[in-house]
Amino acid sequence: MRFSRRVVTINHPPGKILPVQQLLTIDDQRAFSKAATLQGKRIGFVPTMGALHAGHISLIARARAVCDVVVVSIFVNPTQFDNPEDFNAYPITLEDDLEQLREAGVDAVFTPTKEELYPNGYCTFVEMVGPLTDKLCGVARPGHFRGVTTIVSKLFHIVQPNVAVFGEKDLQQVLIISRMVKDLDMPIEIIIGKTMREDDGLVMSSRNRRLDEVGRAKALALPRSLEMARMSYQGGETNAIKLCEEVYGELLLQDGVAVDYCDVISLKGFTEKEVADDSCFIAAAAFVDGVRLIDHVHLAGPEIVESLDD
Ligand code: PAF
Repeated sequence: MRFSRRVVTINHPPGKILPVQQLLTIDDQRAFSKAATLQGKRIGFVPTMGALHAGHISLIARARAVCDVVVVSIFVNPTQFDNPEDFNAYPITLEDDLEQLREAGVDAVFTPTKEELYPNGYCTFVEMVGPLTDKLCGVARPGHFRGVTTIVSKLFHIVQPNVAVFGEKDLQQVLIISRMVKDLDMPIEIIIGKTMREDDGLVMSSRNRRLDEVGRAKALALPRSLEMARMSYQGGETNAIKLCEEVYGELLLQDGVAVDYCDVISLKGFTEKEVADDSCFIAAAAFVDGVRLIDHVHLAGPEIVESLDD
């Protein structure tokens, strides 16, 4: 069994025990959240699939800034993987994750098993249709967003947070979740955390752990190519095909890199654009030595998205 302990007290100096409360069952998480709510505490929630990095820690800090209690979930959700090999290769680093969460001062970590969340006979899914899900990763990874909206809905029902924080790194995901919360009248505020990059520009991602040194160097073509497209736009190029060609051109120079998609999308209605404008971002997904990475930049500048314009 992957998750075996309820309370973790690791590497703490004597007399300074700061346990991370690890909750394995839905009942235990509900009891924790109920107690916090009855005490008038606001619950901030950061759902994750583990293999935590500084990007996740920054989301936890955002939750901490506006809430009294912070809950993190760690669950590698099988229903959002369109490819079983990708699911099996997803990094699992629970001990290290718990240590980082202890240091970040998280109050509880929900680490359910697959059987707890998807028992035998499970057959209910939350599925969004329309512009937010019919492009980019919605097309490249069939069923992916159905898995995401299903698990996030389940986690929201269990954790009952006031606030949930998601990274802008997965821009399409956070816009879908924001829309779902609105459509399904969930009383939860969604906060979008800034994309965190390594010093060399690579977006922080749990999947980066699967790259060796050579693969990691090749992966830098992703942020570099998007930045080149942004510079071209700022130099006057508005033809979306030409902007995407720049991205393809740079990525395909690398051995072992396959482009999954590149597209120019407007945040006004989340529509594909032939002529780019300041409302647009350019997004790409690529396989680097078989590891799927995504990235995007806003053509007008590096500002963060607060919400999707209807
Ligand atoms: O972004 C992720 O890590 C996952 O898609 C999420 C939101 C935790 C759902 O499994």
